[in-house]
Amino acid sequence: MQHQWHVAISSTAGIVIARQNGRALAKELGFGGSDLTLIATAISEVARNIVEHARCGEIIMAPSHRGHQHGISIVARDRGPGIPDVQQAMQYGYSTCRGLGAGLPGAKWLMDEFNIDSTVGQGTTVTMKKWGPQVLASQFSKTRSIPTNEAAAGTSGYGRSP
Ligand SMILES: Nc1ncnc2c1ncn2[C@@H]1O[C@H](COP(=O)(O)OP(=O)(O)O)[C@@H](O)[C@H]1O
Ligand SMILES: [Mg+2]
Repeated sequence: MQHQWHVAISSTAGIVIARQNGRALAKELGFGGSDLTLIATAISEVARNIVEHARCGEIIMAPSHRGHQHGISIVARDRGPGIPDVQQAMQYGYSTCRGLGAGLPGAKWLMDEFNIDSTVGQGTTVTMKKWGPQVLASQFSKTRSIPTNEAAAGTSGYGRSP
């Protein structure tokens, strides 16, 4: 079974942990150079949105494969208020809380695939992927588990498996 890394997000500490773990996983998977910064920045933005707009949630990061493509998959999930108009939220400069309104469009631009599934009153799930160069394929066999620190981010009550 494929490994996944979960980071609970309820504060700035969680954002930092998700960013660091995402960067470490991307590096393990063979990404390098500016890709590591791009991936970490996209993770920061969706994690920040959880804290600012939904209060708490989680980030799930995992290796991803499709055919000959290998990369990283990042899911940001919350049970917050949801987004009434996703198309509007995706526009540069649109913010409901006097933010810059660049987080969602910025993250989409940084990643290769980006999808938002949001239901008002139920929550929001952002799924994004970045595909790496062919060399990644050989790196996948070397992937190791990286430590996560969910306790520091606060796991209280969210996303516990039965
Ligand atoms: N996880 C979320 N839950 C609820 N609303 C969200 C979430 N993420 C984004 N939004 C909505 O989409 C808008 C645009 O997000 P974003 O582009 O990151 O800009 P900003 O965070 O600066 O407002 C936010 O102002 C908010 O209304
Ligand atoms: Mg934002």
